[in-house]
Amino acid sequence: MIPISLHNLYLCFGLLLIGFTSKSAANVFDDVYGAGDYKSARSQYLRSMPNDDIRGPLTPHFVNFLERYGYSEFKFNRPDLGPYGSFGGKVTDYDIIRNYPVIFIHGNSDGALAIEGTHSSGFSSSISYFLNHGYTSAELYATTWGDDRVLANATTRGHSCKHLIYVRKFVEAVLQYTGARFVNIIAHSMGVTLGRRVIKGGSFPTKGGYCNLGQPLGAYVNVFIGIAGANIGMCLCSRPEMTMYPTCNEETGFWPGNNCRTNNYGDCDQRQPQLVCAGPRYSTFLETLNLDHTPIGRFVASIWSMKDEILPNGGQVYGYNTSYLLETNTYSIYPNLSHDQVKDETADFQYQLVRNY
Ligand SMILES: *[C@@H]1O[C@H](CO)[C@@H](O)[C@H](O)[C@H]1NC(C)=O
Ligand SMILES: *[C@@H]1O[C@H](CO)[C@@H](O)[C@H](O)[C@H]1NC(C)=O
Ligand SMILES: *[C@@H]1O[C@H](CO)[C@@H](O)[C@H](O)[C@H]1NC(C)=O
Repeated sequence: MIPISLHNLYLCFGLLLIGFTSKSAANVFDDVYGAGDYKSARSQYLRSMPNDDIRGPLTPHFVNFLERYGYSEFKFNRPDLGPYGSFGGKVTDYDIIRNYPVIFIHGNSDGALAIEGTHSSGFSSSISYFLNHGYTSAELYATTWGDDRVLANATTRGHSCKHLIYVRKFVEAVLQYTGARFVNIIAHSMGVTLGRRVIKGGSFPTKGGYCNLGQPLGAYVNVFIGIAGANIGMCLCSRPEMTMYPTCNEETGFWPGNNCRTNNYGDCDQRQPQLVCAGPRYSTFLETLNLDHTPIGRFVASIWSMKDEILPNGGQVYGYNTSYLLETNTYSIYPNLSHDQVKDETADFQYQLVRNY
């Protein structure tokens, strides 16, 4: 059962997003670029509409490779999810890889490509943009790491070893298949914290025992872009009734800590005086991740929005920017995009970041 409060929140997000979708492209881009850049911004927007009908799944050529090299058990092509559960691969042996391949890691309840529904636009917008700018399917890769894409199951998904191994093996498979010197990683929401852990690798405790991800992969990552991640937790998870759910729990969830048990949900959104805390301050998974300084790429960017309905109050958690990656080299804050828009409507910026490094 999903708690009433969260359920209402999702209903509310649904309504909010309907509001956003009916907003004209002009308004959206005035917010981001300022009115001056409107013309070019608008044409970029039209090229990267979130509902671009990009279809996978992985090409038979890549699936063949996955079967031959021992990856079949993961079913990265997600036959259960149809053409929107995965994307990428060469068409023939003769396809040449000119650009460093991009691996997209989606967030909770989302998937590789867009389907109908809330929080399910995947990376269709970005993939469409890259395809329109000279990339091929041999250079763009996405799979779906969740068991399903059911929004009502959102609270059941934490940073479990199962999800981590799945994403890790996908990154390894793309590196091996493409033979590329580097890949770029573009991650959204829960994909950011999964992705950072997967690239850092290592062995660390989880609820079900040690999770061993292997050697660090940061030396193979060119640009890592983290969009609307919750690197130091989510205020929603500070509610006592939420910590029982995998997505919010104190071990592998987005528990933001309770600032030495003096706070309640409301206070999480506000800057707190520095308190000296005994014991873990927030989720063990997140704290371990943030204390691990293993690099995650040659150039790291953080992107978030001040009006993200999942990360309210400008994305502040006890006064810290939760979407700010500790490894970051640069960050961009959008004034008025929703949690999904900050992924779907920044495809041009993601492209620039990947191309400019
Ligand atoms: C931000 O977006 C919302 C929803 O589209 C809109 O109602 C609001 O006026 C916008 N705020 C600003 C400051 O542009
Ligand atoms: C996910 O949702 C489906 C459909 O509502 C349900 O049958 C299934 O048990 C859920 N899975 C989990 C892990 O809660
Ligand atoms: C945190 O976000 C605020 C905007 O909310 C920004 O002014 C500030 O520079 C950010 N700080 C860091 C360290 O990212």
